[in-house]
Amino acid sequence: MKALLTLLILPQLAFAALPTKEFQFKASVKTLIDNSTKPDVYPGMVVASPSRENPNYYFDWVRDTALVMRTLIDYWEINKDPKIKQMLLTWVEAETFRQNGPAIGGLGEPKYNIDGTGYKGPWGRPQNDGPALRAIAMIKFARLLIDDGEMDYVQRKLFYGLIPANTPIKKDLEYTAHHWRDQNYEPWEEEMGMHFYNLLAQHTALQEGAKLAQELGDGGAAHFYAEQSRLIGEYIKENFLDDTIGIVVSRHVSRPLGYKNSGIDVSPLLALNHTWPYQKLISFKDPHVKKYVNTLIETFSNRYKVNHIFTDMGVAIGRYPEDKYNGYHTNGVGNPWFLATLALGEHYCLANGGKLTHKADMQFKRALFHSDRKGRMDEQIHLESGEMQGARELTWSHGAFMTASMRCGLVK
Ligand code: NOJ
Ligand code: NOJ
Repeated sequence: MKALLTLLILPQLAFAALPTKEFQFKASVKTLIDNSTKPDVYPGMVVASPSRENPNYYFDWVRDTALVMRTLIDYWEINKDPKIKQMLLTWVEAETFRQNGPAIGGLGEPKYNIDGTGYKGPWGRPQNDGPALRAIAMIKFARLLIDDGEMDYVQRKLFYGLIPANTPIKKDLEYTAHHWRDQNYEPWEEEMGMHFYNLLAQHTALQEGAKLAQELGDGGAAHFYAEQSRLIGEYIKENFLDDTIGIVVSRHVSRPLGYKNSGIDVSPLLALNHTWPYQKLISFKDPHVKKYVNTLIETFSNRYKVNHIFTDMGVAIGRYPEDKYNGYHTNGVGNPWFLATLALGEHYCLANGGKLTHKADMQFKRALFHSDRKGRMDEQIHLESGEMQGARELTWSHGAFMTASMRCGLVK
């Protein structure tokens, strides 16, 4: 019966064979690289998607780029491909360029034009997760380069203990240390307030930044960053852990959407993944995390029909249950997202010491099932039909597939 239903609704989903995870990984590497090397884009900048209309994602978002470059750094750590290293060096140049250009949101500017200038239209700004995520990625890159004997490059181009800061990591750490108390927008760019995602990224960036600063002779700053990191940690523990749903997405929201009321959101899960392996504040074994993950699974299983129509695979997860952004506009019905669905798989593997579990594999299967089966992954998955929608070939979807594969021990 279920099989028959599947055939009637979506012949192509029912018939085409699922690709392997290895196949999709290679396709994702290729798309991530394509989207990061567009000839009409400032070298080193990354488009969120090649889509130029409906929706127009032909911009560089600081968050998306920091996350996918972290993914590329992790991949480079494994394969040491000189072409990828060159891309990372070019990315450092691009970030340095845009940090020093004017932007309405300052370092908290979320979105840049493809010529490297700040976006000038109205937008949810600032978004202070960006500098923190960029610092986390660049600190990792700096460490790998130091291991390779490139201390000179690191001190010239990545971190130098000078005020006013003239290197990108130092700039991001100074900004983060001085602005984490400010209200700002969350990763979905919709609500002004204080957010678990942003704060955990900031906490982690300053913690790792303190260590790097100490090692590179910037002891005073190291002390200051470590102290701010500790204070953020206290703030997170006091404000976001919740006995009913586990972890609450936002607090002190001054500009609310009005319809986002449950407090349930996938972004805390993303925060735990994106700050791994550095973050020590909240362990995966913490009962709040367990409760939170269960809440997510239950909420989204019920929320999306695809989870009941297409079975024998993991649960399709979205941003938050009240979401109205359907990939084109915000008066629609929210859908599952590839990056959220894959994040749950990644979480299972991280909680299992970096090994693939059956449940994690089922999350990959869910993502592969809704892809075009030839390597394409867009932003969203229609909640009933299961077909892709929203920005095509979203860079972050591919980054999420790569990261999940690496965290599950699938890439050697
Ligand atoms: C509204 C969405 O909810 C938000 O997440 C997105 O960034 C903007 N539109 C732009 O696409
Ligand atoms: C919308 C998402 O909500 C946001 O997180 C992302 O940065 C942009 N799209 C670009 O991908």
